[in-house]
Amino acid sequence: MNERDSQILVTGGAGYIGSHTVLALLEADYDVVVIDSLVNASFESLRRVERITGKSLTFIEGDIRDRALLDNIFATHDISAVLHFAGLKAVGESVKLPLSYYESNLAGTVTLCQAMQSAAVFRLVFSSSATIYGPDAPVPYHEQLPRGWPSSPYGMSKAMVERVLDDVCLADERWAVALLRYFNPIGAHESGLIGEDPRGIPNNLLPFIAQVAVGRRERLSIFGSDYPTKDGTCKRDYLHVMDLAEGHVKALERLEYSGCRAYNLGTGQAVSVLEMVDTFQTVSGKTIPYDVVPRREGDLAAFWADPTLAYEALGWQAQRNLNDMIRDTWRWQEANPNGYSGG
Ligand code: NAD
Ligand code: WQD
Repeated sequence: MNERDSQILVTGGAGYIGSHTVLALLEADYDVVVIDSLVNASFESLRRVERITGKSLTFIEGDIRDRALLDNIFATHDISAVLHFAGLKAVGESVKLPLSYYESNLAGTVTLCQAMQSAAVFRLVFSSSATIYGPDAPVPYHEQLPRGWPSSPYGMSKAMVERVLDDVCLADERWAVALLRYFNPIGAHESGLIGEDPRGIPNNLLPFIAQVAVGRRERLSIFGSDYPTKDGTCKRDYLHVMDLAEGHVKALERLEYSGCRAYNLGTGQAVSVLEMVDTFQTVSGKTIPYDVVPRREGDLAAFWADPTLAYEALGWQAQRNLNDMIRDTWRWQEANPNGYSGG
């Protein structure tokens, strides 16, 4: 059977990366079923995805830890593969609430895999993170490096899920799993209709800068300017969320092997916090006032991807540059100053 005659289950599909990936899947003619508890998202994102694509999807509000619900979804839909985004993602919060993070991210994934196994669905794409390389890995990070010991419960939950999925694949050769290790996704769909809509004070750099630019916050705090980098601020490998979304479609299309394979999804270029602020000012025409404050605990000076494997094995390479990322973030933020809640 052609995969496009069956359905793709997307967990966490109403969230930031999930909604952009659902859009890419619909545009590639996949039939999509989303399960999302809406703990960190709004259904409005998916309503807008339907508007942009002119296509409809099936939405189920629910939790991946609810085994009965998952069994019902697999029983009532013809699912051929799962893209698994659902989980909690705030690094600082995970230090305070480790059990919530291990329950959602680790136990939730185990429940999902159990439901998949009993429904004989063995194809899975998992949202992993560069954080699994741990604080001591040499840069650039490449997939042959061993997993490290991430310092936060969030990071550790990702490393643990990767290990669980390794073991699941070793035990049963019917499984085909892609571990997609994202670097720092930013940006928004070029329509400006969907984008990142963090609740409360943004933890991540770009959403914070965008909220300063739109007048929701007064000043950016730059966490440290005494790192061993050229300008003293930390460097990261930022990639456009639509490039990331397209990487998922490619990973899904190549999911014909047996076993568990990891791929870095990044650009291979690192940008410092000050470079980001400068470029944002140039692209948006807005001034971003900032203060340099002490380092944030747990931050690494600089890391970036070696994305060669994703290119060779998936035919994926980031297409959009930093200006594109910032232009699309700004278009989304300017048109939706309060995110999906409007007002
Ligand atoms: P997000 O919070 O916007 O999306 C996660 C979605 O999952 C949300 O819609 C939320 O409501 C839903 N969800 C959470 N727990 C759930 C549960 N138990 N059952 C059902 N739905 C649940 O986050 P995002 O930035 O889109 O990230 C998606 C995935 O990618 C996450 O697993 C995250 O850890 C991973 N990731 C994100 C980044 C990043 O920088 N954004 C980097 C690396 C990896
Ligand atoms: C980027 C740089 C900050 C905010 C986190 C997670 C990681 C991954 C992506 C999921 C850093 C600096 C930030 C601010 C600042 N998520 N900064 N002022 O820390 O690389 O990664 O999100 O897997 O696991 O740890 O991204 O956007 O938080 O920070 O100066 O208000 O910007 O110090 O150098 P990070 P970030």
